Amino acid sequence: MPSPLSRARAFADRFGLSLPVLMAPMAGSSPPALAAAVAEAGGMGACGAMPFDADGIASWMARFRQMSSGAVQLNLWVPDDAPHRDPAAEAAQAAFLSGFGPAPDIPEGPLLHDFDAQFAAVLAARPNAASSIMGLFRPDQVAALKAAGIAWFATATTLAEGLAAEAAGADAVIAQGAEAGGHRGAFTPADAQARAHVGAFALIPALADALRVPVIAAGGIACGRTAAAALVLGAAAVMPGTALLRTPEAAIAPAWSDALARARPEATVLTRAYTGRPCRVLSNRFTDAAQAPDAPPPAPYPVQRHLTDPLRRAALEAGDTDRMYLLAGQAAGRAQAAPAGDIVTRLWAEAEAALG
Ligand SMILES: Cc1cc2nc3c(=O)[nH]c(=O)nc-3n(C[C@H](O)[C@H](O)[C@H](O)COP(=O)(O)O)c2cc1C
Repeated sequence: MPSPLSRARAFADRFGLSLPVLMAPMAGSSPPALAAAVAEAGGMGACGAMPFDADGIASWMARFRQMSSGAVQLNLWVPDDAPHRDPAAEAAQAAFLSGFGPAPDIPEGPLLHDFDAQFAAVLAARPNAASSIMGLFRPDQVAALKAAGIAWFATATTLAEGLAAEAAGADAVIAQGAEAGGHRGAFTPADAQARAHVGAFALIPALADALRVPVIAAGGIACGRTAAAALVLGAAAVMPGTALLRTPEAAIAPAWSDALARARPEATVLTRAYTGRPCRVLSNRFTDAAQAPDAPPPAPYPVQRHLTDPLRRAALEAGDTDRMYLLAGQAAGRAQAAPAGDIVTRLWAEAEAALG
């Protein structure tokens, strides 16, 4: 069994990094400047490319390349089966939401970008790695990545998902612990809701013992101590997300950044209220109301995401944290307002010292 530090150094060497620290892909919060700062510090930058069409993916990569020639990962959400549409339930949900913001329209037509076109754009952008969440890439897609020399990092929230990812050809598995900010990466909406809430302390060693491919730890990594713990548990690299949100490069809304700074570990909640898929956010007046027993159930993803668009926009413009979509992991209160390069450099120096 290699030591945690030698396992981490082997991972970094294999992927051309000087630090085994990977920025977590964060849809809506992965500006090229943040990815470039992490890459320039010797880690791997990332883009949560789910909100982009093919042109958006190409232009994100062009902007990243203007700032860095370092390593970068592009991330896509694997689409679920088409959601069941229930007009009466959607109308009840829209009426509920209009108590919190502008009345939403009931969405029609395609609600997601074309996944094959997004995937083709990822291939054409030639990142160092492509990562998946909420499912696995198809065998033809995996073959195309391998032919292009692009590594595949597959997100897993359970041992079963990690084993399936390795069997499908993943080059590394991202162990997303239940602490993680943002959406649960479970392969099915039902698992995301009910079962796939395994904490990093149980998930990382289970995956590390069962898999031959390296494990990347995500969820609650916020400092050298947490990074060192993940490596001792069996991870080969760490993937902080929330810890990078208060950096100047992330440029999130000041009210969101301030709310992260104040957050206690128990301040977050897993909720379907914003998008229809379970997502970890700071709880607020809106999430409390949405979870009340008499509240109408949210629509499935991505219908609910479209229904809450006007509310999320209005709350952001008003700086209103009672309604704002405050994505955050359980370690949010440890996120520092400092340049991203300094954060990842310090995180790794402290982890190395702790593992001494
Ligand atoms: C704002 C935000 C957006 C996210 N978007 C994505 C995404 O698009 N794709 C993805 O695979 N994971 C996404 N995640 C999850 C992260 O990649 C990662 O698993 C998580 O941030 C790790 O936990 P931490 O926030 O405690 O560091 C997101 C997380 C946050 C906080």
